[in-house]
Amino acid sequence: MYLIKSVTELLQYSDQLQSMSDTALLDTELLLCFTLDVDRTWLKTWPDHQLETAQIKQFETLFSRRLKGEPVAFIIGRQGFWTLDLKVSADTLIPRPETELLVEIALGLDAPKAARVLDLGTGTGAIALALASERIDWQLTAVDSQMAAVNLAEINRQHCQLDNVSIYQSDWFSQVPGSGAAAQYHLIVSNPPYIEINDPHLSEGDVRFEPTTALVSGQDGLDDLKIVIGQSPMYLRPNGHLLVEHGYQQGTAVRSLFTTAGFTAIATHADYNGLERVTLGRFPETA
Ligand SMILES: C[S@@+](CC[C@H](N)C(=O)[O-])C[C@H]1O[C@@H](n2cnc3c(N)ncnc32)[C@H](O)[C@@H]1O
Repeated sequence: MYLIKSVTELLQYSDQLQSMSDTALLDTELLLCFTLDVDRTWLKTWPDHQLETAQIKQFETLFSRRLKGEPVAFIIGRQGFWTLDLKVSADTLIPRPETELLVEIALGLDAPKAARVLDLGTGTGAIALALASERIDWQLTAVDSQMAAVNLAEINRQHCQLDNVSIYQSDWFSQVPGSGAAAQYHLIVSNPPYIEINDPHLSEGDVRFEPTTALVSGQDGLDDLKIVIGQSPMYLRPNGHLLVEHGYQQGTAVRSLFTTAGFTAIATHADYNGLERVTLGRFPETA
């Protein structure tokens, strides 16, 4: 049978998503936009536009993946972060809006015009590329342990046309290029894995589709934060800053790790839900 449905009729599919997604209508709009290769304004402008059978089938295939819980970003292969449109894949984390707080704080720091900045665990490149897009004189180095993530970040770097970012594979600091001053940074930023291995949330929602390499960090979720915070002083210039994202219940533990590592001016910022999310500290100039 030759089937025709309008934009409005297809958006009503969102009712089926209500119980599993807080953004049911938005999810449905994004899947329809992807099917038709249009933006959301177009959908609102042409609510009576009729889709043909092949388009409806394509949309329904995408929609059934979302009904099974797959994140929209993985279905359409893209996610907005800061002002950037990033390619995403199942090799790393989908960039989260909470992480934009870390970008905002980093941009507010008193850094030199041509600051050297290191992003540890870059994933899609989200943090490094957002900073590079706002500060074209900053020199960004971004690393990830997963080669697939390094390749993805490089694709995003090229798509965003940002020449002030270099991306490498490295297990935290182990393969960070350069030596001496060339391996020292005015600012180190990181959103490392920080979820406890037995956290029940790992079997719920979008995170089921993301790799454990991007999420899980030992029994208490602090294994990677301990490495990043403990080793950063060796890679920071005098008065350099370290800025990390962490779980909302990890603020006290993270501030204590900063203190033990010798940082001063330690402060934690809350995200837009009022939850402790980003901690920073300054590494003091040695006497
Ligand atoms: C929580 S994700 C953050 C991704 C990205 N920075 C963001 O904010 O969207 C953590 C990232 O750290 C990477 N990672 C995990 N262990 C690592 C290690 N030992 N060395 C470097 N990167 C690591 C993962 O592959 C993943 O891409």
